[in-house]
Order: sequence, then structure tokens, then C-alpha cells
Amino acid sequence: MWYNTKVTELLGIDYPITQGPFGGNFSAVELLAAVSNAGGLGGYGAYTLSPQEIVEVNDKIKVSTNKPYNINIWVSDNDVPTGIVTDEQYEQTAKIFKPYFDAAGIPLPGKPEPFKSRFENQVQVILDIRPKLFSFVFGIPSQDILEQCRKNGITTAGGATTLDEALALEAAGVDIIIASGFEAGGHRTSFLAPAEESVTGTFVLVQLIKQKVKAPVIAAGGIANGRGIAAALTLGADAVQIGTAFLACEESGALPLHRDMLFSERGKYTALSRAFTGRLGRGIATQLAKDLSGHEKQFLPFPLQANFMSSLRKAAIDQQQWDLILFWGGQIAPILTHTKASELMQSLVEETTKIIIT
Ligand SMILES: Cc1cc2nc3c(=O)[nH]c(=O)nc-3n(C[C@H](O)[C@H](O)[C@H](O)COP(=O)(O)O)c2cc1C
Repeated sequence: MWYNTKVTELLGIDYPITQGPFGGNFSAVELLAAVSNAGGLGGYGAYTLSPQEIVEVNDKIKVSTNKPYNINIWVSDNDVPTGIVTDEQYEQTAKIFKPYFDAAGIPLPGKPEPFKSRFENQVQVILDIRPKLFSFVFGIPSQDILEQCRKNGITTAGGATTLDEALALEAAGVDIIIASGFEAGGHRTSFLAPAEESVTGTFVLVQLIKQKVKAPVIAAGGIANGRGIAAALTLGADAVQIGTAFLACEESGALPLHRDMLFSERGKYTALSRAFTGRLGRGIATQLAKDLSGHEKQFLPFPLQANFMSSLRKAAIDQQQWDLILFWGGQIAPILTHTKASELMQSLVEETTKIIIT
């Protein structure tokens, strides 16, 4: 049957359908459990969480499902090697963003506090809690960490936005490659070439990777229904990772307003921008993203730009100034129909079965 693949076998799940993990509080235990309990693989994006918070989330997951699930973190979570920006950098950013803070009627935030990478401490917790799948993006963990995963029975999956990244992940011994096409909602998780140069679409990327790499491949980006799943499997993918369609379900951590946006006319127009976090990401196109295109050198490095922008986001939501907010989402948003994760899962399985069998 179409649903028996290398990935379902490795992960012990019924269907080759995984829910994309969402960092930045967009994940939810309820969403993860709905997907895992329906025979897919639920995922939790934990890159902004402290180690203790990851333990607490994991305890809640264990109460909600006894099925396999995925915890995801970012190998590189910081583009500020020293953790601090200079006064000059801050002034430059403040100048370019001032009109938008003025439009929201709020003061510019001060210079961001220094940032220290969380990855090393987070990964220790993941090795302790042993999720069935540990997925990561923005790089490759050390050989020592990958070896400990193998010893602890944790399957690993790494995000690739180019063939070169997939080859590097395979050479490091990562079990599964997630082929992440540029249609996808969220950040471009490139780690070899700049994200702007790593913009292959999912269906090309899957074929390039399948031709050269033996590890199983999960297709991510632009898939939201049975047709998309059938197409990805036909091209050689061993499973799919679906983000935007699950983000739009009521169990996700997205605000109701954000979910409404994905179903609205605005969901038709998405763009890649660095304006919101300092790293390139896809969301519903806003005027701010359009205005500041070409000014990337004046933004603060990730994640300080995101800290800088969080007060603007909060005020803009209160004031319904949509053009100042990036609502994360992928290009596939206009075809979404489901608002409940269990119904989405059921429909994905039924549609794929119908398409592949008839
Ligand atoms: C709001 C949001 C946050 C995301 N955060 C992460 C993350 O932290 N780690 C990760 O591996 N993928 C992340 N992704 C990517 C998804 O897991 C998934 O691969 C992607 O959404 C699939 O493409 P689609 O949106 O076209 O379905 C995020 C996506 C969105 C929309």
C-alpha cells in the first residue's frame, strides 16, 4: 500500500504524513497529539524553549499520546557570533524602522540584550527524553551528538534546502533528509549557501536528492492535500511534512486572527523577507516586507531583529495594522479547507488512497 514506506517503517507510524514542527510558540501539544494519534507523526518546534520548558512540554505530550512524535530544534540559532550588536548597528536599524514604530504609536525598543545560543543545552534534554524522531534545521549536529542519538534509539532527520545540504547530512550519517522547498511557510533553513540562493522548489529538490542520496526523504513545502502527497510519493519521497495546513487548524499555537488570515484573500500573497527576524522566512506579504526589501544590511542579525520587532508585532495586532505584521504561512494557503487536525489527517489519508488507487 502507498502508506508503507521506509519512513513509516523507521518511525513506526501508520501513514507517511508528518506535521511540520513550528518554532516560536506556534506548536501545540494538542496539535502534535491529534496528528500522532491519527497515525501520522506530530511535531513540536522547541528552538525558543529553555531545556526545562522542553521537559515540561514533553511531559504534557506523554499524557496526550503514546505514539511516536518529533521534537525539533535549530543547530544554529544565532547569527551574532559575539551575542551583541554595536551601537552603530542598533542606530542604523532603529533609523530604518522608526517610521513603522511611529505608525503604531510606540517607542523604539532599546538595544537588544546579548544573546547566547541555546542549542547545546537543548540537545542534552532531547537525548534524555528520547523522542522517536529528533529533527533539526540550520546545520548538522556534531558526530558525538549523532552517535548518542543512535545509541539512545533516536532517529534523526535534518532539513536540506539544497542538494549539497542533503549530501552533507547524509555524509554525517543523519537517518532522514527533509527536502525543504521554497514554497514552505516559515524560515528558509539554509546552512551552506545563503538562503536567497537556496530557493529550489520542493518537487525539483526531492528529485535531485533522490537521484544522489540513499537516505529516505521527506518532502516539505507546498503540500496540503492528497494530490500533493500522491505527487510527492510519485516523485520518490518517502513521506511528506505538512506545515501551513496544520498551522491553520484550531489546535495549533497560531492566534485565531493568524488562522483567519491564512484562509482569507490575503493568504494568496506570500513573500520571503528578512525584515521580521533577521533570517529569511515566508509569510503573508505585508507592506513592511515590501518597503524594506533591499535594506537587509540594515536589519539586526537573527535573533536580535526578532526581539526588536516583537513590540511592534504586539502593538500592530492590538491596532489591527496588518501591514506591520508577518503572518507566517506558505504558498499553498489558498487551497486550505480544514480547521481541525484530525479531520485534516483523515481527509489526507482518504484523498491520497483514492488518487493512488484509482
Ligand atoms: C510558523 C512556522 C514555524 C516553523 N518553524 C519551524 C521550525 O522551528 N523548525 C522546522 O524544522 N521547521 C519549521 N517550519 C517549517 C515546517 O515545519 C514545514 O516544514 C513547512 O511549513 C512545510 O511547508 P508548508 O508550509 O508549505 O506546508 C515552520 C513553519 C511555519 C509555518
